[in-house]
Amino acid sequence: MMLSFEDNTPVPAPRSTDTSATAAMAADIPSGAALRVRAEDKRVINGLADVNQLVPFKYKWAWEKYLAGCANHWMPQEINMSRDIAQWKDRAALSEDERRIVMRNLGFFTTADSLAANNIVLGTYRHITAPECRQYMLRQAFEEAIHTHAYQYIVESLGLDESEVFNAYHEITSIREKDDFLIPFIETLTDPTFRTGTHENDQKLLKSLIVFACIMEGLFFYVGFVQILALGRQNKMTGAAEQYQYILRDESMHCNFGIDLINTIKLENPKLWTQEFREEIRGLMRRGVELEYRYAEDTMPRGVLGLNATMFKEYLRFVANRRCQQIGLDELYQGATNPFPWMSEMIDLKKEKNFFETRVTEYQTGGALSWD
Ligand SMILES: [Fe+2]
Ligand SMILES: [Fe+2]
Repeated sequence: MMLSFEDNTPVPAPRSTDTSATAAMAADIPSGAALRVRAEDKRVINGLADVNQLVPFKYKWAWEKYLAGCANHWMPQEINMSRDIAQWKDRAALSEDERRIVMRNLGFFTTADSLAANNIVLGTYRHITAPECRQYMLRQAFEEAIHTHAYQYIVESLGLDESEVFNAYHEITSIREKDDFLIPFIETLTDPTFRTGTHENDQKLLKSLIVFACIMEGLFFYVGFVQILALGRQNKMTGAAEQYQYILRDESMHCNFGIDLINTIKLENPKLWTQEFREEIRGLMRRGVELEYRYAEDTMPRGVLGLNATMFKEYLRFVANRRCQQIGLDELYQGATNPFPWMSEMIDLKKEKNFFETRVTEYQTGGALSWD
């Protein structure tokens, strides 16, 4: 068979095993070129194209998110924590309820971001066969390391009891329940014997991706984000709040990347998206809302900072509806509205730069700070 590089007939990649001298000479190029990657051969899962070749691009959205992630680079030590340290030491500066919020928050997030990093590195990454998506996930994994660093930096700056904070995910029921919900889905992907390629396993992968992007990063982080940013808005713990603001920006990109990944897998494998599967996902979403609401009740036994658990019931329903809509599911809670419209401004640092009047380091050049 003669090799033709103008040949547009679909051929699964790697495209040819014909590396005979005749074929190579006929094309006047080295025989290895017979394996050249074509964009149209790439697939997000179960692809056969060489994962070591980033280009030609097929999934530009993933590459663009990688660039945006790099443009938003930040490091925890750049943020001055001296005001936070003084407030934490001053018994009158923060109420017991406000301190509880800080402790619970760090208790959840110190281990949550390690779970997230391990899920990407040891789980998701190896099942995704699009190199553009892998490139973003490498960036995302480093961002999760930065987030864990940020929480550690806050714990260290405030001189908190490290073992209390880092063991909270074992010891605090409302945190443990969230992790117990997540861990089986993470374990599916990190199980060394798990392989995609069957209908059942491809659905398992898709389900884990949805749980991770839409429920963990897209829902379980949001009570905590609102609470710490609400503290910052009242001029309390502004250093920690600024770190959370950068983390929220990163996480909203992780969530959007996950949603693009999910929707592309759906598009490429429409048979996975059965009625039964959609119902199962809606059930998981409902369970996620319940668990996060319990966490809200536990972290706010009384009203604090103008917030109370009931407001979060509405907020979580609003966020869950949005996640459903983003992956093409019917909304779960009719008419839920957003009681915290200021949160969407928090995600966009362009609008509220220096919101807490602390130092903001801009890594990016030009006007690259935008995502949807
Ligand atoms: Fe994170
Ligand atoms: Fe994340």
